[in-house]
Parts: sequence; C-alpha cells; structure tokens
Amino acid sequence: RPPGNHLLCYNRTALKNALACLVILPRFLVAAFMLWCLDFLCVRRRVLFHLRSEEEEEDEDPPLCISDSSRMFSWESLKAVFHGHKLDWMKSARLGHDAPNSAVVPLAEPKRRRVLDFARAQRPLAFQRLVLQYADVADALVIYIEEAHPSDGWISSDAPYQIRKHRSLEERLSAARLMAREAPGCAIVADSMENSTNSAYGAYFDRLYIVQDGKVVYQGGRGPEGYRISELRHWLDQYRARLRDAVIRV
Ligand SMILES: *[C@@H]1O[C@H](CO)[C@@H](O)[C@H](O)[C@H]1NC(C)=O
Repeated sequence: RPPGNHLLCYNRTALKNALACLVILPRFLVAAFMLWCLDFLCVRRRVLFHLRSEEEEEDEDPPLCISDSSRMFSWESLKAVFHGHKLDWMKSARLGHDAPNSAVVPLAEPKRRRVLDFARAQRPLAFQRLVLQYADVADALVIYIEEAHPSDGWISSDAPYQIRKHRSLEERLSAARLMAREAPGCAIVADSMENSTNSAYGAYFDRLYIVQDGKVVYQGGRGPEGYRISELRHWLDQYRARLRDAVIRV
C-alpha cells in the first residue's frame, strides 16, 4: 500500500473515533453522573433497595450487581464505561443483518475458528444459558470476552475470582476454563486476542444474541442494564411455537 493511502486510512479511523466520542459523550456523562451518585451511601442504599424489590418480580434476569462496598466512580470505572459505550456504537452486528463472523478460540485446541462455525444450518444459535431447556430448538455458545472487572482495572468486591486483564491468549483461555467449570455442558469459546468478537458484537460488559442462518435475529441490550434473559426466553418460546405450528400444518 502506498504511504499516502495509509495516511488516509489512518485519518479515517481517527475521524471515526472522534465521531464516536462525540456521539457517546452525552450517554457517557449520564452514566458517569449516576456512578458518582452511587458513591453516596444514602443513594446507594435506596437504589439497592429498589433493585432488590424488582428482583422478586422478575427473578430470571440477573440482578444488577452493586455491592455495598465497591467504589463506583473512579478513573477505572469511567474508562470501562466509556469503553463499553464506544464498542456498542462501533459494533457491526445489527438486528436483521448478517451476523459478523468474527474470530474465536476453542478452549480445547487453541486454534482460531469463526463464530458461525458453531452454528448448525437453520438452528438458532443463542449465545447464553437456557441451553438445556431449549436444546430441542437451539444451540448455545458462550463467548468469553475481556474481563468486565479485572483485578487490575475496575475492581468489583463481588467478583468470585481475581483475574487480571488478559495479557496473552493463554491467560484468556485459562480464565475461560474457570467459567466452563461453572457452566458444564455449555459450549464455551474465548474471543481472539484482537477482541474481534467483542468489537463486532459490542459485547462488553455482557450481551445476548440469537443468530440464525447467518443473520442476527435477536440483539439484546448492552449489559449489564440491557442483559435480559427473559427476552431471550420469550424469543425462543415464540420460535418453538412457530415450529410446532409449522409441523401441525404439514
Ligand atoms: C483486547 O482486550 C484486552 C483486555 O483483556 C486489552 O488489554 C487489549 O489491548 C485488547 N486488544 C486490542 C487489540 O484492542
């Protein structure tokens, strides 16, 4: 590539980055303000109380984890939140469009594969739990991405493991193996070290998707607020009902 071309490309990336910052700034400021408020004990107690009472109504969705002790407003937390918003804005996965076929690494043999290698023809690939309940209609794949709360980043006192930011594929894979122990019977792969799946799907902190025939058919919200297992279940229930209807009609 001629050097001029390189420069053009570089400029375009810089422009895209600058634009992203501009677009996400309002959302980021709102989130930062909320984190700042949460550091006041009286506010935090009230929010925790509110969350717990909601939890009883809809216990399938994991509760928002706000521990009593972790500091919410810090340089690390702001960096993490900004990173999440930016990934969300830059992601290429769009509802109804082709599912990005990003790189992933299986835990057993550290050889690069692609996300859609794990999809079977026509069957929806739901990226999380409910594995057994819906095994008749869908396959599931968990993709372990970068740590949401690494021990050298935005620390969470609730985190069951101390995992630092992955410096190598080996570190990422061994952290993913810890996760595999918690979810036996679930296919787990790790994101590539370029974080290509995380970027393509805007997955950070966590996110749910359903992909079918190479298309994104369900796109969950940005986690943790938008992470709704109940939505996933609703989609799968409707899909199962449609399949049954089709069978009856045949
Ligand atoms: C991928 O994520 C890790 C955090 O686990 C980060 O340290 C690294 O810089 C990222 N890689 C790229 C290419 O952005």
